Amino acid sequence: MPDTYIPLHEPLLGREEERAAAEVIASGKLGPDKAFNSRFERLISDYTGSSHAVALQSGTAALHVLLDAMGIGPGDHVIVPTHTFVATASPVLYRGAVPVFTEIETDTFNLSPRHLVRTLDRLARKGIKPKAVIAVHMYGLPAPIREIKEITDARGIPLIEDAAEAVGTRIGKRHAGTFGKAGFFSFNANKIVVTSGGGALLTADEDLARTVRFLSGHAREDKPYYFHTRLGYNYHMGNLQAAVGMAQFRKLEDLVERKRRIHAFYKQAFSELPVRLIDERPDTRSNYWLNLLLLPDESADALVRHLQSRGIDARHTWYPLHRMPLFDKYPYFGDEETFRLFTRGAVLPSGPGLTENQLARVAEGVYDFFKKYV
Ligand SMILES: Cc1ncc(COP(=O)(O)O)c(C=O)c1O
Repeated sequence: MPDTYIPLHEPLLGREEERAAAEVIASGKLGPDKAFNSRFERLISDYTGSSHAVALQSGTAALHVLLDAMGIGPGDHVIVPTHTFVATASPVLYRGAVPVFTEIETDTFNLSPRHLVRTLDRLARKGIKPKAVIAVHMYGLPAPIREIKEITDARGIPLIEDAAEAVGTRIGKRHAGTFGKAGFFSFNANKIVVTSGGGALLTADEDLARTVRFLSGHAREDKPYYFHTRLGYNYHMGNLQAAVGMAQFRKLEDLVERKRRIHAFYKQAFSELPVRLIDERPDTRSNYWLNLLLLPDESADALVRHLQSRGIDARHTWYPLHRMPLFDKYPYFGDEETFRLFTRGAVLPSGPGLTENQLARVAEGVYDFFKKYV
């Protein structure tokens, strides 16, 4: 085992983040502090073009409080792609609602408009109109969000964008997470912008932003004493997180550029192998949070184990949520594309701080694996 392990994704932190955190500690005010957080929120709004941003404890918290603020509760149906991290679906269960799983397309590896229509039709035949559709911009690759929005708009169903992995991703000139009723980011420790656990909600709907803010602060009524009429959450972001987040957002364009160079490196390195490195679609800009490699056969597990044995943290793609014991009792309409991807896809180290030497080691590891082909 080489002595230098190559991680899947580590953040790039420097003096700016150190200074920002030190200033908050020196001030003695760790928050959450409305005035302080609103600076971070303005930065997010300016960067994304979203009218409102609410800084929260995590992406999971953002989706949970959003579903509550949208009035989604027990027995309601919410459409979720089966190819995603558990946290796209678990807040649906927190609310006592029913996730309805559907499939992705192989073009973008995100929610398939065709499958979405079929799922909505199947539900409509049973007299069910979902309360929301959640589209994910997986691995930072933009979902076909305009096509999805046309479908949800035509049927009067609110669209939520899980842009947890897509900070810095654009579709045309617009930022991922700003197309639907609301979107959200994650700033957890393996994302492109990190705040050591954190997230943000984006929306153009002022009332919705106000309700999310209200519910996230224990639903405390505007009175000089503590008074509550609704059940709330403790989801506001602390000042330390917001300070680090501000420093990170200021260097975000550089971080995206670094990650795009990593994608270009892999693209070139694997050009002679029988693999497909998944690219952004025309007129979009992916942040290439993780690079997804599609293999010619079902050898993803063997490749992941081969790279892991060389100290390279490659990973499997998501195991389909609808096949997990936690979710297998909920409806699934699809063709098992996510399961096929699970057997044929792997994600490669993609952190913005990867060195040329580390990238060369990953490329060498993949080449070695394919010796049998070339
Ligand atoms: C697709 C997706 N959705 C939701 C989340 C949840 O975000 P967080 O870890 O900030 O709760 C994550 C990140 O972990 C994610 O990758």
